[in-house]
Amino acid sequence: MKEPQSELDISKYVFSNSPDCRNTVLMVKGLSFSYDGKVEVLKSVDMSLGKGELTVLLGESGSGKSTLLKTIMGLYEPSEGNVVFTDEGAAPITKHSMTNKFAYVPQDAMLFNASIYENLTWGNKEISHGEVIAAAKAAGADEFIMQMPKGYDTMLQDDGKSLSGGQRQRLSIARALLKNTPILLLDEITSALDKENEEKILKTILKLKEEKAILLITHKTDLCEYADVVKTIKNGRIE
Ligand SMILES: Nc1ncnc2c1ncn2[C@@H]1O[C@H](COP(=O)(O)OP(=O)(O)OP(=O)(O)O)[C@@H](O)[C@H]1O
Ligand SMILES: [Mg+2]
Repeated sequence: MKEPQSELDISKYVFSNSPDCRNTVLMVKGLSFSYDGKVEVLKSVDMSLGKGELTVLLGESGSGKSTLLKTIMGLYEPSEGNVVFTDEGAAPITKHSMTNKFAYVPQDAMLFNASIYENLTWGNKEISHGEVIAAAKAAGADEFIMQMPKGYDTMLQDDGKSLSGGQRQRLSIARALLKNTPILLLDEITSALDKENEEKILKTILKLKEEKAILLITHKTDLCEYADVVKTIKNGRIE
């Protein structure tokens, strides 16, 4: 398995303030990628994300959905094509400025051995206690956290493996909400959730949508009813 690249050549990632972009926050242009240099997993993908829009990305298992997100974020470098951020200014892009564009909820929530509170804030002291609680509530996590004897101070052991899949997902979503970025990339975030929590999170997403561009990967076609744009990827190609 190919690991994400630690050194990214950011020449394929561009900040632009082209006036014809208007609502567009991010454009993917002719993006191709191969893990092994032979088989193309992404084939000349074009896509744009707009502020105020929820884009749902469908596709069979193995079609390249997660790879597309990871390539957009620069975890893997495209072999061809560009990722263009349409920003107010066209300052030279850095890895840091790029990271601040996205909040990402991966398919498998990643937690670490620290308190729930620290897991949510990544140690960012600028985030207030009230903001943490609000994000946890919006992600449907506050209730189960408060049922734990130490609440938000509960220490997670073994990278949070003692929590259920749905609880881990909800913490991961709350963390992404706290990052407060213009783009939200969500990979199968409701796969382990019951209907009640799924609805809670969808409500939150729809509320956040006004201020952000959101890309939601899912296998659940019924979620398309909430989408402004629906795309399907098949064998690495957007149809
Ligand atoms: N780190 C990796 N190294 C090598 N090959 C990989 C890696 N990650 C994914 N692949 C391969 O790339 C292809 C696309 O995988 P990807 O994870 O993007 O699919 P997906 O559409 O997200 O599927 P799923 O719905 O199952 O999550 C698959 O053939 C997969 O085996
Ligand atoms: Mg995937």
